[in-house]
Amino acid sequence: MFAANDLHHYFSELAEKSWVVIPVDKRQVLDLQSSARKRSNEFRSAGINQSLTPVKEIRSDKILWLDSANADTDSEKSVLADLSKLQNELRDYFRIALNEFECHFSIYEPGQYYARHKDTVKQNNKRIFSFVLYLNADWAEADGGQIVGYNSEEILFRIQPLAGQLLVFKSDIEHEVLPARRQRFALTGWMRQ
Ligand code: OGA
Ligand code: MN
Repeated sequence: MFAANDLHHYFSELAEKSWVVIPVDKRQVLDLQSSARKRSNEFRSAGINQSLTPVKEIRSDKILWLDSANADTDSEKSVLADLSKLQNELRDYFRIALNEFECHFSIYEPGQYYARHKDTVKQNNKRIFSFVLYLNADWAEADGGQIVGYNSEEILFRIQPLAGQLLVFKSDIEHEVLPARRQRFALTGWMRQ
């Protein structure tokens, strides 16, 4: 999936800025969008916390967790293999314990968003790096749906959810997804301790 054989250059950027965009093969990730589309009836509302109370004011997307037990297509299996490789390379580069990763597809329908938040909520405090693989063939500024990362009030990054990019950032960075004006696909996950 990765356009470069050696990711060290991107890892040093990640170490420096706390976020980085790693280029990936667009064709491969668009196959993944087809997989997600075919399974759209399996997606469930993401705004559900552990007390099973919908928290729609925070996020309104739908998600489908992807793991080796439910990976169906070749593209789903191969992205899990690539992410596992990324996990090992991040572990070796940063010399930290990264023992597992978890990921889910997400679909935002027009008008849906995810308000400003951190991915390191208490029950998930083992999350070290967040990553988002964007699955949209084309995207314009006017389509909304950008992810914006913050350091207090300063904007750290603002990225279009365009296929060909894997965004990686430290999980304690605050970020939000602006309301999308068209259907928006991504695969989001976390490298965990
Ligand atoms: C998340 C998230 C960002 C995105 O699912 O926690 O912040 O760009 N997603 O989809
Ligand atoms: Mn998030």
